[in-house]
Amino acid sequence: MTTTCKVCGNDVTEFLDLGRQPLSDAFLTGDELDREFFYRLAVGHCRSCTMVQLVEEVPRERMFHHDYPYYSSGSTTMRAHFEQTAQDFLRTELAKPDAFAVEIGCNDGVMLKTIGKAGVRHLGFEPSGRVADVARSHGVQVRTDFFEEATAVEVRAEHGPASVIYAANTICHIPYLDSIFRGVDALLAEDGVFVFEDPYLGDIVRKVSFDQIYDEHFFFFTARSVQAAAKRFGFELVDVRRLPVHGGEVRYTIARAGARRPSAAVDALLAEESAAQLAEAATLREFAANVAGIRDDLVSLLRSLRAEGHRIAGYGATAKSATITNFCDIGPDLVSYVCDSTPAKQGRLTPGKHLPVKPPEAFSDPYPDYAVLFAWNHAEEIIAKEHRFREAGGRWILYVPTVRIA
Ligand code: SAM
Ligand code: TMP
Ligand code: ZN
Repeated sequence: MTTTCKVCGNDVTEFLDLGRQPLSDAFLTGDELDREFFYRLAVGHCRSCTMVQLVEEVPRERMFHHDYPYYSSGSTTMRAHFEQTAQDFLRTELAKPDAFAVEIGCNDGVMLKTIGKAGVRHLGFEPSGRVADVARSHGVQVRTDFFEEATAVEVRAEHGPASVIYAANTICHIPYLDSIFRGVDALLAEDGVFVFEDPYLGDIVRKVSFDQIYDEHFFFFTARSVQAAAKRFGFELVDVRRLPVHGGEVRYTIARAGARRPSAAVDALLAEESAAQLAEAATLREFAANVAGIRDDLVSLLRSLRAEGHRIAGYGATAKSATITNFCDIGPDLVSYVCDSTPAKQGRLTPGKHLPVKPPEAFSDPYPDYAVLFAWNHAEEIIAKEHRFREAGGRWILYVPTVRIA
């Protein structure tokens, strides 16, 4: 099937169909089950600008609404990551009089609260009301709105130019990338930078972490596709940095064309992508074949453990796990429930497969025999926190980059 590239308008060729899927963050109460929304989750790549993207777009208000249940501060690792990010900006781009920081998708204020505490002017855009209120409770200035061209123009008129526009795990969520770049153009200072970080296609392909593909993750960036997109809108990719968080990300730094000299890291990552033939049709077809292999291995492991009478739970009711459970048809018959620390998810049912979500305290009451680590990107933190599970004889099941018991 062919669709049109959201960035350049040329043909997008589909390479992976993950089937009928629910909204990944729509945790349901019992009486909502008959009203569940589904769409077709499939990914393609643009033959021209190479951008990897979903072929079907879910309307943004269905995903990002008052009760959006993802809280960025839910992990120690991510709190430390955003504290470090804020400190880095305070030492560099924001170390000047009257600096102004804007964050797109500031969520519960995990990054901006440090900027606010330092007394630096800032504004977060956050359309999801409940998480935005948490950010405000930390002293963060928030506009409960989507960032796009029109809202960016208003902020420029009211507050003046931004020294930095930052976004983590948000730009890849936004199909209207043209409006984002026009908004950045309207709001960014002449010498300012637009910095964003998102899951990296290179890591996804290498680790076969296809659970990074879900409704909210519309784009899967590479240095090459981001460089091409930036160029279309009068910008230039001037730096890239790989990050270990969320299973492997890249932080892209974009400046106005000619304003900053690109770092050697840009050419190095472009060369690496070219050598790996990342985003080439053959590589993506191979990735799709590997996805089917992971599904088959995971399902046969879970089925054989259940046939032997073992009890299996899940850990981390992640958005990513919606793709795994729905694509692999993992219902409560295989994984009885999922433990998660997010109060907004507890007592509800996971999207599509309706696994009950329980608080982490339920994990040891009693421990299951096996636990599928759906929050594999937080493995270190969770396995350390739950060390008693292993000590009691429990075993973790991981599926990235291969299905295994650990
Ligand atoms: N930056 C946080 C982090 O990295 O943990 C939050 C990431 S969360 C996955 C994505 C956030 O982007 C959500 O809180 C959502 O409401 C917000 N969002 C989605 N579209 C947006 C837009 N156009 N402008 C601003 N925020 C947006
Ligand atoms: P994420 O992978 O999208 O960041 O989502 C992580 C999910 O896992 C989120 O719902 C919170 C949950 N979680 C726990 O339940 N316990 C933990 O220790 C951590 C780090 C996350
Ligand atoms: Zn394109």
